[in-house]
Amino acid sequence: MTIQENKAKKDIPKSGLRFEKVSFTWPSGEKALNKCSFSIPGPGLWMIVGKNGSGKSTLFRLISGLIQPNEGTIYCDLKPALMFQNPDHQILLPTCGSDLLLNLPKQLTPQQRKLQIQVCLKNVGLEGMASRPIHTLSGGQKQRLALAGALASEASLLLLDEPTALLDPLSQKNVLSTVKKLCHRPNSPLTALWITHRLAELNHADGAIVMKKGCLGSLKPSFELKQLLKRLPRGGAER
Ligand SMILES: Nc1ncnc2c1ncn2[C@@H]1O[C@H](COP(=O)(O)OP(=O)(O)OP(=O)(O)O)[C@@H](O)[C@H]1O
Ligand SMILES: [Mg+2]
Repeated sequence: MTIQENKAKKDIPKSGLRFEKVSFTWPSGEKALNKCSFSIPGPGLWMIVGKNGSGKSTLFRLISGLIQPNEGTIYCDLKPALMFQNPDHQILLPTCGSDLLLNLPKQLTPQQRKLQIQVCLKNVGLEGMASRPIHTLSGGQKQRLALAGALASEASLLLLDEPTALLDPLSQKNVLSTVKKLCHRPNSPLTALWITHRLAELNHADGAIVMKKGCLGSLKPSFELKQLLKRLPRGGAER
């Protein structure tokens, strides 16, 4: 291996997520990401705050590979799963178990599928609910089922786009604590990127980043960031 090849190999992180000068412009001409560089240090619950239109959802589409950057490089060797504000947009089948079946790896035997469904439901606090009809679930339970779907697909990177925006305080707390637990479990802890407009949620993050005009700042302890945002007019992150 030449020195250059060796150096190039060393520069690519062995695991995780890193953006290098990534830019993206929508076909309409909207520049959503502008030379955006950041890296996520490893498993944990990392939150992103930023004004409407600052590029947060576009960032998630780029990470999950739904769209490709116009410029720059994305290194990601984690398996992403997207979760949106409204779980009704991603739950497709009539019962919890049948919905999870869709996400399981295809090579599993029927026995293994049944077991995996039970394990995934247990991991999100929906134990024993495989045959529950979806329409009987509360909003918070639906959001946790969407999370179980991500686990069933063996995702290692959760991309959560304001997952608690439609939930009441108790359901919000349950979803938050479920994700936090998954990010700190001793075996295969997950990496979660969580977009929020609720500053109180920052208390639960391992670190947080402000997104501003299509660029992410540096990862900060969430307490520090919360203090900073509180001092801005109307308590928000600038666009
Ligand atoms: N599908 C699309 N086609 C064209 N432009 C888009 C599309 N999606 C987003 N944009 C534009 O890209 C920019 C960033 O939008 P994005 O949805 O990523 O922001 P956001 O930070 O997620 O905002 P919000 O907090 O309101 O969800 C905006 O100017 C928006 O109009
Ligand atoms: Mg958005």
